[in-house]
Amino acid sequence: MVKKFVFFLGLLGLSLSSQAFTASGLGAGANMAVQLNIAFSADSVGAGLIAGAPYYCAQGSAVTASTACTNAGYLINTDALVQYTKDQASAGNIDNVVNVATDHVWIFAGAKDEVVNQSVGRKLYAYYQSLIDNHRINATFDQQANFAWITSSEGNPCWYYGTPYINNCQLDAAGLMLKSIYGTLQPAVTQNFANLYQFPQHEFVSNSSAGMDTFGWIYQPAYCIENACKVHVALHGCNQNYDTVGAVFIKNSGLNGWAEANNIVVIYPQVLPQSQVNTDGCWDWWGYTGPNYALKSGIQMAGIYNLTQSLGTITSFRPGQNLN
Ligand SMILES: *[C@@H]1O[C@H](CO)[C@@H](O)[C@H](O)[C@H]1NC(C)=O
Ligand SMILES: *[C@@H]1O[C@H](CO)[C@@H](O)[C@H](O)[C@H]1NC(C)=O
Ligand SMILES: *[C@@H]1O[C@H](CO)[C@@H](O)[C@H](O)[C@H]1NC(C)=O
Ligand SMILES: *[C@@H]1O[C@H](CO)[C@@H](O)[C@H](O)[C@H]1NC(C)=O
Repeated sequence: MVKKFVFFLGLLGLSLSSQAFTASGLGAGANMAVQLNIAFSADSVGAGLIAGAPYYCAQGSAVTASTACTNAGYLINTDALVQYTKDQASAGNIDNVVNVATDHVWIFAGAKDEVVNQSVGRKLYAYYQSLIDNHRINATFDQQANFAWITSSEGNPCWYYGTPYINNCQLDAAGLMLKSIYGTLQPAVTQNFANLYQFPQHEFVSNSSAGMDTFGWIYQPAYCIENACKVHVALHGCNQNYDTVGAVFIKNSGLNGWAEANNIVVIYPQVLPQSQVNTDGCWDWWGYTGPNYALKSGIQMAGIYNLTQSLGTITSFRPGQNLN
C-alpha cells in the first residue's frame, strides 16, 4: 500500500499530509482529469490530456457538451471559463487557483480527430495558458491522429476511428506526459501483469448515484506495497471502460511500464454506462450526476479524490480478471 509520512509530519507538528496525484485521460476522461486537476489543485500536480476540453466547458448542458465542447471550439469562451474557475475558488467550492500555476500539463489534440475537433484542444491550451506559465505546458497539435489514446506500438493505425480508441501513432503519450509532469524518469520497462489488480471501488465511492463500477483497477509496482509512491489516475474515454471493452485500456495505455520503472501507482477508476443519462459510460463533464459535477463536491469527483487519498487503506486487492 502507499504509505504516507503521517507520523513523521505529526512529529514535526504539521497537519496530516495529503497525497499528491496526477491525472490523465482521453475525451471525457481528459475532461474529468481537467476537473480533478483544477478542483483539487492543492493536491493535483499535473495532467496529461488527450482530446480534452477546458474546465466546465459544458456549463451543465449536454447540448453545449456535444456542440461547442466537441466539434466547434470557436464557440468556447475561454475567458468566461477562467472567470468561473476563479469564482468557484473564491467561493471555496474548488481549491485556490494559485495551486494550478505550479503544475505541469501535457496536451494532445490530433489534427485528424473526428470526434473532439482539434479547435477544442486549442481552447484547452488557451485556458491553461491563462493559469500556468507557457514553459510548464507541452501542447502537441501536429500529429495526424484521430480520436484515441495515443501509443508508440499498440492499437489501430493513427488515422483510424473506432473501438477501443487506442491508436498507434508511434508516439508514446504515456511516457511524454509523465515526463512532462514529473521531469526525468527511468525508461519504461515491461509491465508485470502480477501487479495489475482489481479493488473494491464501491467502498471508496460511497454514493452509488455516481454510476461507478463495483471494482476499479490498479497497477501497483511491488515496491509500492510497503513504500510511498507517486499516484497517477488514468481515466478511460467513453465506451472504453472495462465493462465494455475489457482490460484493453488498462493493459495498453503504456502507463504501466513507466509506472513499473518509476514507482508510480496507476489507478484506473471505472464508470458504467447508465440508460438514458450516460449510455456510453462517460465520466461526468456535463452534469448527469448533478449541477456540482465539476466541483470538489461532485460525487464522481469526491469519489476519485477519495481513491487517491485512501490507497493505503485498500486491503482487498484481487488479481486482475480476464487479462488475456
Ligand atoms: C475541425 O473543424 C474544422 C473547422 O470546422 C474543420 O475544417 C476540420 O475539418 C475539422 N477536423 C476534422 C478532423 O474533422
Ligand atoms: C512535448 O511533447 C512532444 C510530443 O508530443 C515531444 O516531442 C517533446 O519533446 C515534448 N517537449 C517537452 C519539453 O517535454
Ligand atoms: C471515502 O472512502 C471511505 C473508505 O475508505 C468511505 O468510508 C467514504 O465514505 C468515502 N468518501 C466518499 C466521498 O466517497
Ligand atoms: C448522492 O448523490 C446524489 C446526487 O448528487 C444526491 O442527491 C444524494 O443526496 C447523495 N446521497 C448521499 C447519501 O450523499
